Amino acid sequence: MILIVGGGISGLAIGWRLAQTGRQVTIFERDRAGHAASWAAAGMLAANAEAEPGEEALLPLLHRSQKLWPAFARELHDETGIDVGYRSDGTLVVALDRDDGARLQFLFDYQKSLGLPVEWVTGREARTMEPHLARAVLCGVWSPFDHQVDNRLATAALSRAFRKAGGVLRENTPVDRVIVENGRATALVAGGDTVQGDAIVLAAGAWSRNLAGLPDDARPPVRPVKGQMIALEMDPTAALIHRVVWTPRVYLVPRHNGRLLIGATVEEMDFDTTMTAGGLHDLLRYAWEVLPAIYDLPVAETWAGLRPTSRDDAPILGPGPVAGLLYATGHHRNGILLAPVTADVLTRTVIDGRLPPEAAAFTLDRFAA
Ligand code: FAD
Ligand code: GLY
Repeated sequence: MILIVGGGISGLAIGWRLAQTGRQVTIFERDRAGHAASWAAAGMLAANAEAEPGEEALLPLLHRSQKLWPAFARELHDETGIDVGYRSDGTLVVALDRDDGARLQFLFDYQKSLGLPVEWVTGREARTMEPHLARAVLCGVWSPFDHQVDNRLATAALSRAFRKAGGVLRENTPVDRVIVENGRATALVAGGDTVQGDAIVLAAGAWSRNLAGLPDDARPPVRPVKGQMIALEMDPTAALIHRVVWTPRVYLVPRHNGRLLIGATVEEMDFDTTMTAGGLHDLLRYAWEVLPAIYDLPVAETWAGLRPTSRDDAPILGPGPVAGLLYATGHHRNGILLAPVTADVLTRTVIDGRLPPEAAAFTLDRFAA
């Protein structure tokens, strides 16, 4: 029996893949599955456009997962009938003034030096691609392989696929503590029950470090990083943009159904998820600068979520100091992109009894020193 703490995209994807191998799997979710960070996200699968100095070690894992997404989305559709809104329209990063342009040039040079598939475009070329962009757009970087998925549909599909494969999803069931005996995690206490497990996967997102019963050296250094978002309603037959558009301050993500997501703030506010006037003001102002036609659009929704952020912004995967306890947390800004590879890595770890080599750099022990 495999027990998973947390029914976000990480826990659901791992649970689905493990259940497909015939393992008995139970996911414990204290609220509704897929309604925390995985609900709040924008669903960008941007391994290239978001690449910044210092993240070189993570790039191969991001690319591996990016390549897995089309088949992952197709399989979810085939299994559940839910189209998870995978769109392959690419991402355009634009600069609006000379400072932004210099920064973009620096990032572009860096990304090219790593051999990433990105192309420099002039302001005119950017506006030819997306005619509603402001005249102020000076230049841009076109990233043709950075796509998007509708993360809310993806978690809904994963919940259904997991159950269909025989998994048990216990929603509204918080895990109160993990039981560790003689250095081994043997059981969980949840919903008044003590449930024994052969392996326990900690996939509790921003809350992962707080689980009671964990020895200090087994607490993952994961903290919440708040992101506020706003969605506007476009006419789906006359969308203002067709690609994901980034500026140095905000991103805009057009969905097939006409929603235009604008995100996101990056705030160290502990577990606070309040929407603030300043947050909304900044999102709208910076989005309006690049796409003035948003001015008259109706507001559809506002929300805030908590990124599960590790000390080095990279995920924590696989085994740690407590036998039988595996980690799938700390995915920070890339948890949707990394879902297929996270599921793959954790499933192979459970089945083979060892971590696959592509995840070797992402174990908890990198923080031990
Ligand atoms: P979560 O989705 O937070 O799930 C953890 C689950 O564990 C929750 O449902 C919670 O209720 C449950 N839980 C916690 N404690 C317990 C307990 N004790 N017992 C039972 N259940 C428990 N990533 C991308 O790849 N692309 C993007 O475009 C993107 N945009 C983002 C925009 C915003 C505003 C934010 C906030 C994040 C964004 N991310 C993006 C990051 C991504 O959302 C996260 O990395 C990812 O969702 C993490 O998934 P998770 O399953 O680990 O965590
Ligand atoms: N990856 C986008 C975000 O975290 O806001």
